[in-house]
Amino acid sequence: MRGPEKADVVIIGAGAAGMMTAALAGKKRRITMLEATDRIGSKIAVSGGGKCNFTHESVSAEKYRGDPVFINSVLKKFDEKAVLTWFRRRGLRPFRRAGGQFFCSRSAKEINEIFRRELLGTDIRYGFRANRVEYDGKTFIVSDSSGNRICTEELVVACGGPSYPNIGGTESGWRIARELGHRTVRPFPALVGLTLQPGQSFFKTLSGISVEVEIRVGTFLYEGRLLFAHRGISGPAVLNASLRWEKGEISIDFVPSFPLESMMEKNKNISTLLPMPKRAAKAFLKHLNVRDTSASRLSREEFARLKRLKEYRFAPAGTFGYAKAEVTRGGVAVEEIDPSTMMSRNISGLYFVGEILDVTGELGGYNFQWAFSSAAVCAGALSTSDGRSGQN
Ligand code: FDA
Repeated sequence: MRGPEKADVVIIGAGAAGMMTAALAGKKRRITMLEATDRIGSKIAVSGGGKCNFTHESVSAEKYRGDPVFINSVLKKFDEKAVLTWFRRRGLRPFRRAGGQFFCSRSAKEINEIFRRELLGTDIRYGFRANRVEYDGKTFIVSDSSGNRICTEELVVACGGPSYPNIGGTESGWRIARELGHRTVRPFPALVGLTLQPGQSFFKTLSGISVEVEIRVGTFLYEGRLLFAHRGISGPAVLNASLRWEKGEISIDFVPSFPLESMMEKNKNISTLLPMPKRAAKAFLKHLNVRDTSASRLSREEFARLKRLKEYRFAPAGTFGYAKAEVTRGGVAVEEIDPSTMMSRNISGLYFVGEILDVTGELGGYNFQWAFSSAAVCAGALSTSDGRSGQN
């Protein structure tokens, strides 16, 4: 059999993290990038409603699920200002939304175009799905199922997670990590809608309606829109809540900043007074067994039941699953990764960047920021290492 091809550095995955690693390290190292699909940046292209929310004006570990010390240490090396500067220098004119999120002003394609230009000297092998990595104590041999093999002494695993499998999401990165002896934290779909138990099935009758809510999940509180969907509940507040949700109850305030007592003397019908679409108000009143009568005529018991609107507790049945999850939480455990290089503490020359790690951000551009920050740290280590002299 023919021996494997040799490469200086191999990066598995041409997503945000892999591409930023190659862009920042590529000037000094000859990089070969393996991409399972036939294109770069598939998730970038569909993100942020087609405009890619690529960072946020204030990024900190609180916005992430994961080890805050590890996360902060990585973020500060290539923070949101550095990301904005990097893209602006390459011609991007970002658009800032009121909440502090930064998007492309025209299209997410602008980001992929920048990477395409930055990666002109990079050897990208499309259709190479790495499914096995052997390690002999010095060299990694990466192979695909067609028998293609490539060897390197520095391997960057940037495979992301299994969310959105239709555009390349896969678990293969974790499998590679585990085969190389790394522990992975149990994965779960995140930034995703939540499904309902039979007790909440009346929500389905509200499909298409959205309301402003506050959702409490554990010690976290998320404000924003909730969208009633056929399968359950979705919308930004729910997606953020899903990041923190463990099996068990969440609590939703369906009328935030509206003290119910304020309407008790009023002579209008309750469904008119509640600050939510009338169809939703009527459905809740029916569900809570409260008459849609003049507020001043409510009985004490009815008012007590109505108060559930402020603290509506229930246990979701599950999530909409990986097909609809913007990210996967869990992944390669970070205690085995050095945050100053993104290199494995167990195997020198092996790096992990981006979503494959057990670090997951809220909505708002935090996940791309993580991909870029972790990539920059890794690229710094690759640029200063000669072979593997930069380890640990
Ligand atoms: P990513 O998944 O992007 O890239 C991994 C690459 O590796 C893919 O190209 C894949 O094909 C390839 N690959 C996987 N296994 C392989 C193998 N075995 N061999 C070879 N190649 C392999 N985030 C945010 O901050 N702002 C936003 O607006 C959005 N919006 C958004 C919308 C939607 C619909 C989704 C699905 C996701 C988002 N996200 C987001 C999340 C964001 O897209 C995500 O966190 C980053 O893309 C992660 O970047 P990575 O490079 O780590 O993985």
